[in-house]
Amino acid sequence: MTPLDYEFLRKLLKERSGLDLSADKQYLVESRLTPLARRVGLPGITELVQKMKNGSAEPLIAEVVEAMTTNETFFFRDKIPFDHLREAMVPELLQARANRRVLRIWCAASSTGQEPYSIAMCLKEMGAALLGWRIEIVATDLSQGVLEKSKAGLFSQFEVQRGLPIQLLVKHFTQVGEMWQLNADIRAMVQHRQLNLLQDFGHLGSFDVIFCRNVLIYFDQETKTDIFERLAKTIEPDGFMVLGAAESVVGISDAFKPHPDRRGLYRPNGTRSAKPGIAAAMPQPARAVAMASR
Ligand SMILES: C[S@@+](CC[C@H](N)C(=O)[O-])C[C@H]1O[C@@H](n2cnc3c(N)ncnc32)[C@H](O)[C@@H]1O
Repeated sequence: MTPLDYEFLRKLLKERSGLDLSADKQYLVESRLTPLARRVGLPGITELVQKMKNGSAEPLIAEVVEAMTTNETFFFRDKIPFDHLREAMVPELLQARANRRVLRIWCAASSTGQEPYSIAMCLKEMGAALLGWRIEIVATDLSQGVLEKSKAGLFSQFEVQRGLPIQLLVKHFTQVGEMWQLNADIRAMVQHRQLNLLQDFGHLGSFDVIFCRNVLIYFDQETKTDIFERLAKTIEPDGFMVLGAAESVVGISDAFKPHPDRRGLYRPNGTRSAKPGIAAAMPQPARAVAMASR
């Protein structure tokens, strides 16, 4: 790969996915894109870049962007956000939404599904408290590939051994050959949508809780600020936002303020008019799930 190839790729990735590669990440690009180049019958990255420059290469560009995403995730990652969900967010929202009995949760970079399904299991485990409530968990990601895996709800032995308590494995999964599949009731709690956070997401409606974890770390400050400003428009005034362990709004945006007692948890700072929920905007059948008794 020549320095010019690298510059082309850096610019392309920044524009298409927000990925902000520093000048010393050639090795990362080499390791992710050389196998892709070979798979499409090209000798190397220089030829891959040439093909993208030649025009009408949109599917190839999408593959390059996907190949450069980092999809690392696991069940109940960092544990604390799920404690916050169970102990702080849901109890407060149960009171605040007692009339509507609807909870809308957005998992904004959901990768292969471990995060939205951890949320779903967490809520399911709350049992009677949510009985009769409509729960909408919307999982979005830039990458169609990870969304397909997430939809299938099929996980390897290695994946279910990372973070998932054994009781939840026994209770909510069924063994299918060498894989484990999440049971249909948990899968049905999660709706999947392809979505690039660089683009408008107002059509998703308004959420009570937004999990936006371990994706903004890949973006530059300007992009983070823009995304926080737009997230603030799509969250209820009394909603909650959860960031990853290495992420914060501090010094980047004042659209959210940190929760005084709970690390990684944020609340919107201002007021805005609420928009209708996704159920109104989504094509049928809507996959919102009413919590029934187990
Ligand atoms: C490291 S994973 C984090 C998964 C999960 N949130 C977690 O914390 O375990 C980052 C995810 O962000 C997605 N992603 C990267 N750029 C994105 C963008 N511009 N819009 C939406 N998703 C993006 C990637 O495809 C990847 O699945």
